[in-house]
Amino acid sequence: SIETVRGRRVWDSRGHPTVEVDVVLDNGLLGRAIAPAGASRGTREAIDLRDGGDRLGGKNVSRALASVNGPIAAALRGCDVTDQAAADQALLALDPSPLKETLGGNATVATSLAVLHAAAAAAAKPLWRHVADHYGTTPRIPLPEIQIFGGGAHAGRRVDIQDFMIMVPGATSFDEVMEITNEVYFAAGDIMAQKGKLAGVADEGGWWPMFDSNEEALETLVAAIEKAGETPGDRVVISLDIAASEFRKDGSYRLALEDRDMDSGALIDMLGGWLDAYPIASIEDPVGEDDVNGMVEFTRRFGDRVQIIGDDYLVTNAKLVEEAAKAGACNAVLVKVNQAGTVSESVETFKAARAHGWGAIVSARSGETEDTSISHLSTGLGGGQLKVGSFTRSERMVKWNECLRIQDEPGSGSFVGGAPLAGTWWG
Ligand code: PGA
Ligand code: ZN
Repeated sequence: SIETVRGRRVWDSRGHPTVEVDVVLDNGLLGRAIAPAGASRGTREAIDLRDGGDRLGGKNVSRALASVNGPIAAALRGCDVTDQAAADQALLALDPSPLKETLGGNATVATSLAVLHAAAAAAAKPLWRHVADHYGTTPRIPLPEIQIFGGGAHAGRRVDIQDFMIMVPGATSFDEVMEITNEVYFAAGDIMAQKGKLAGVADEGGWWPMFDSNEEALETLVAAIEKAGETPGDRVVISLDIAASEFRKDGSYRLALEDRDMDSGALIDMLGGWLDAYPIASIEDPVGEDDVNGMVEFTRRFGDRVQIIGDDYLVTNAKLVEEAAKAGACNAVLVKVNQAGTVSESVETFKAARAHGWGAIVSARSGETEDTSISHLSTGLGGGQLKVGSFTRSERMVKWNECLRIQDEPGSGSFVGGAPLAGTWWG
């Protein structure tokens, strides 16, 4: 059973404070996890409780740590660590507010994940194995979505679109995905350098997007895939996170880079044109989180040929997944444990999506740390896809490298790729 729960302040990939939680069992075993932090957040996701004020940019977490070391520690002391649902219920009982603003979603997510880690330690299992056994899922090594250019809120809005990524479904192993990604990533850097446009990296390690239009990023990505010796659309495909809520202004969409205002229909037409012109297999938040009609329309027009992921739109919420499935909006969900605030609610969302034949992509945040929980969650739940950011910087690489280790462990399942994409490939 749980003996102590202790929170401490640690620092994330952007240098901001965040919450780490240690859950120590009566036999001395430890579970530890760290809360990540988003920059392009949905309005309905769990709140990171921060102190405000002038110090540390207002981002200190002493109030969230007080939640962990006070009410959370008191409520979890003596609890059965193997009962994840009961531990998460105890957190919800302490904070029934919809966005977890009382305890702080940063306090609850670090605690909930630390409990999961402690339970795995108690069972003497790697975390991915514990997750699979606990939730009755079949482990699979996921197909990564890897960022090549970072834009939007992760690059000072240098371009409007947020993530220009690749997926390598044609690779036969996770290791081969890493190798091909290295080639594409550095080919993209070479092309940027040749154009005199190389200017460092964005928040998640992708190249800084020194482009004159959003489409120039797509053209450059295609050129990079070719320069890497691949045929775009064959083994390597493109995945975009539009993060359209970030450029939604007064009910329309404003592409600042191109000085263009569009209504929902024009944005959908523009993205449809991109789907025709480029080998795009997946697209996230193509319209704003409040644009339900737009999401339904986008899914009606393109849902049979491309994966359509709700991130800001669905905020890892099982109820919103159910509503979207009923309305015909999206065919996949991004699963970010800190959007929900607990492991149980995240797994519930994951299962709701899978029950509808949807894709489910376990995802990091733009503010990350050395925590590798999501590599294990993605593998253990067998969801098939993992989004972590780019192919530089250790808070990203630690997740990819953990998948390589998991791949070497017996029973972790086969790699999801190895075949060209066809039909509703994500389901
Ligand atoms: P965030 O964005 O972590 O900065 O909120 C990531 C995403 O939109 O997928
Ligand atoms: Zn997103």
